[in-house]
Amino acid sequence: MNFFDNHKKLFITALASFVGLTVIVAILPAMNNQKNNAPLPNAVPLSEEAFLGKQSFIANGCVSCHTQQVRNVDMDKVWGSRPGIAADYAGITRTDFWRNTATLMGTERTGPDLTNVGTRQGSQAWNLLHLYQPRAVVEKSIMPAYPWLFEVKNEVEPGEVEVIVPDAFRKGVNGKIIAKKEALYLVAYLQSLKQAALPDGKAPAEFLYKKEQKPVADGKNGSLNLPDGEMLYVKNCASCHQANGEGLKGAFPPLKGSPVVMSDDLELYVKIIMLGYDAREEFAVMNAVGTDNKLSPEEVTAIINYEKTSWGNNAKTVTPEEVKKIMDFIKLTAEK
Ligand code: HEC
Ligand code: HEC
Repeated sequence: MNFFDNHKKLFITALASFVGLTVIVAILPAMNNQKNNAPLPNAVPLSEEAFLGKQSFIANGCVSCHTQQVRNVDMDKVWGSRPGIAADYAGITRTDFWRNTATLMGTERTGPDLTNVGTRQGSQAWNLLHLYQPRAVVEKSIMPAYPWLFEVKNEVEPGEVEVIVPDAFRKGVNGKIIAKKEALYLVAYLQSLKQAALPDGKAPAEFLYKKEQKPVADGKNGSLNLPDGEMLYVKNCASCHQANGEGLKGAFPPLKGSPVVMSDDLELYVKIIMLGYDAREEFAVMNAVGTDNKLSPEEVTAIINYEKTSWGNNAKTVTPEEVKKIMDFIKLTAEK
């Protein structure tokens, strides 16, 4: 066949398949991922120094012994106040033109996980000495020493940081041990590693919102005497799902256009509110907000109806009787 004898056609076909597959398998999913994840609102971006420190963390191979991921398993509870979620890794700062963001989740945990080490080991002096000689602060440490991050000088100049090393670990060094810029950057990076807190779903301070709950007539559903659904939503749900109903990418799903909110399956909806929800890896965990905040059937109904009819949602509203039936059933099964 002519096609297989023609090296140009063969080459172009192979190249086109390769490029096409790369776009489908790698580039499009990556772009989609980038669109669906964003850092948490209270996550602090890396400072310039911490960014340089991260490069030094990579260059010195620290990731070969230290992870930065808190898994949703009991043994990981000591490494953070909550399991890691996609939003924790969504800060897009390219390492340089050729290399994308290094997430440094790691796979090997010879040393402790460092997700939250900035909260655990906040002291610059401790970190510098630990890098110079881990055994000076942790007797049986098997972490290697990084003496090349330091230099020996006769005098400490202004702006320089001297590391006070116990005599037993000076090994004949005469002079002052000074942290190089790289060591200071690395420590700045370590100190920046703090898990960003998630909203806890507790009602914000009462005085921020009007106290009395005016019953409002729900035009779409006859004139039911229900409490103000919007206010209840702001108090109980908006810290996570946001006032605009769009949630936070990589942490809390949107309720705008949510299949659960739009569906007629009221049982799942009420269960999510009263018992919490942990169905998907890519989102954080929703606690039993309705039970914790002692919401009544009328209040749950008002919230549900508000969500079903806001932000462009236009699903059928529900009655307090329907909601109460499900809530009673949930209570009954919980008591057994
Ligand atoms: C051979 C494995 C290994 C390598 C490589 C390594 N570490 Fe460690 N690291 C450990 C071990 C083991 C510990 C626990 C004992 C200790 O505190 O020294 C530790 C502890 C730490 C701690 C204290 C954590 C805590 O919870 O108190 C920090 C911070 C740290 N390492 C940073 C680094 C940095 C930065 C690098 C790279 C420059 C690095 N490590 C490279 C094994 C390693
Ligand atoms: C502490 C944060 C938080 C609060 C407060 C909170 N939620 Fe959630 N909610 C979540 C998370 C996280 C999920 C997704 C859980 C999963 O899928 O694993 C979720 C999921 C949902 C879903 C399912 C959406 C879908 O499309 O799958 C509904 C409905 C919902 N929440 C309603 C509410 C209502 C109503 C309130 C207020 C009474 C509320 N939530 C308060 C965190 C929260």
